[in-house]
Amino acid sequence: MVKENGAKENGTEEFDGDWLDLREPFDAAARDPGLAELLMQHVDEKARPRFLDLGAGTGSLTRWLGHFVARPHTWILADADAELMSRAFETMMDAAEDMGWKATWPQKKALLVHSPHGAWRIEGILTNLLEAPTGLPLDAVDVVTCSALCDLVSERWLVGLAAALAKRKLPFYAALNVSGRERFSPPLSGDALVARGFLRDQRRDKGFSGIALGPEAPTVIARVFAAHGYQVHRAPSPWIVPRQARDMTYELALGHAEAALRHEKRGAAQIREWAEVRGTQADDGQLAVRVEHQDVLCLP
Ligand SMILES: C[S@@+](CC[C@H](N)C(=O)[O-])C[C@H]1O[C@@H](n2cnc3c(N)ncnc32)[C@H](O)[C@@H]1O
Repeated sequence: MVKENGAKENGTEEFDGDWLDLREPFDAAARDPGLAELLMQHVDEKARPRFLDLGAGTGSLTRWLGHFVARPHTWILADADAELMSRAFETMMDAAEDMGWKATWPQKKALLVHSPHGAWRIEGILTNLLEAPTGLPLDAVDVVTCSALCDLVSERWLVGLAAALAKRKLPFYAALNVSGRERFSPPLSGDALVARGFLRDQRRDKGFSGIALGPEAPTVIARVFAAHGYQVHRAPSPWIVPRQARDMTYELALGHAEAALRHEKRGAAQIREWAEVRGTQADDGQLAVRVEHQDVLCLP
């Protein structure tokens, strides 16, 4: 399984749907419920709050955050990848079925998921976020969200988005931003080399016209939104991946090695050897991984 294939023809980074599915339960366990509750208090007076999810992928954030809303509400999923978008709707219908909820398409344009607390109305827009905030329906929503997106974007892009949200006094919730620390256990020679290469890859231009924020994302989001007078809340949201989660530990090791190989040409042999050993450890249930993230909530 390949997680990131690098840039597509339209300049956006490509993500594998199977990888997004694999990480979804770890994402759900990692995101901080306290920040989600705080966001819900902020939208309390809205009878039917509307959320715009940037870089929605297969809709993982909707399936997690929707449960906190507990009343009828709307999601607009925005992504450039048509395949991921159609998978988002399929996955949403499967998830509804698993919970015993009906899912219907009354107007073709939007999916209605009938939860016991009211319907979740979900629609999608295919858009290259490079142009954002241009093209985003900001006047038609109450909250802008994203999950695992802000470490891909550049500071310039974020500054533009923040100005547009501040103008409309819209809250911004950015979950799961990498903060630059990973630990593979047990320790292994080559860890530092792989970590260095992985860190370099996180700062590669990911199609948002500039160096990606990578592990700077939480700090830069906080600074940029605070400059507009936003109140910023941050909370750790680590992936804690136990030895038993073979597929996830295996993919994380492989993904780190692939990313490191893009930059550490002279250390290539050692990185390959590292990946081999880590792969065997994952297969044998002997590899555990912790990846640090931060969730950030910016309230106007
Ligand atoms: C790491 S994935 C996160 C997906 C989802 N939010 C989640 O948490 O599972 C990043 C997402 O951003 C989307 N993306 C990346 N660059 C984009 C761009 N320039 N325009 C629109 N979507 C983009 C990808 O297609 C992918 O779905």
